[in-house]
Amino acid sequence: MIDTHTHLLEIVKKELFLETVITEARAVGVTRMIDVAISPDDWGERRELADKYPEVSLTLGVHPHACDRPDLEAALATVEELADHDDIVAIGETGLDWFRDYAPRDVQLRAFEKQLEIARRCGKPVIVHNRNADHDVIEVIRRVTPECGGVLHCFSSGYDIAAQGLDLGMYISFAGNITYKNASELREVAKRIPLDRLLVETDAPYLAPVPKRGRVNTPGFVLYTYAVVADLLGVTTIELADIVDRNATRLFELAR
Ligand code: NI
Repeated sequence: MIDTHTHLLEIVKKELFLETVITEARAVGVTRMIDVAISPDDWGERRELADKYPEVSLTLGVHPHACDRPDLEAALATVEELADHDDIVAIGETGLDWFRDYAPRDVQLRAFEKQLEIARRCGKPVIVHNRNADHDVIEVIRRVTPECGGVLHCFSSGYDIAAQGLDLGMYISFAGNITYKNASELREVAKRIPLDRLLVETDAPYLAPVPKRGRVNTPGFVLYTYAVVADLLGVTTIELADIVDRNATRLFELAR
């Protein structure tokens, strides 16, 4: 079973012991996790984690929340410089957040477009964050379409946005919020996603699924989200894990 989107260093910041987190994930059958970058600043530390835990794959990018920095261009240049590195399976997380607005919108747009260009140039997929920015996210992807596809991660929008993303070569990834009581519309969307374009993730340490809602999320909890999505699709959790594994392996060119 794969957790296609987690932030290991952010979990550590929540004062969990990473060795325990990884051991617990292994115990429930998590065989791979994609550690998604917030910024290139901690690249060295994340490389060390990936060296220590063979199931960890890495991405590199500047998160929309981390874009408001005077040296943004230097950070993007670092992403560009390292993008071809064999250990990097995707560019991101990037995208637009019109909800929290931690960075000015023009800055977020600049960083998003630049990272889409980097993804195109290095032939890797892109991991896209979208909060309250449906139409702008789609418009930018339409303008700078990553040739190797990507993910609309933690998908929380309506089916029309999923359909437009699918047309642009994007995969649709569901996180713990799909298990929430008030997410019935999102569950209906999940049923309509083609099985070969579906991913499952934790976005840990955020958005812990029911019945762990409110706790610090960890990759091991991905099991609960698999169970809910599998139930929606009328397959077993093991069958869904197999489907997502194939999809992630194809998209991120993971070694089998
Ligand atoms: Ni994330």
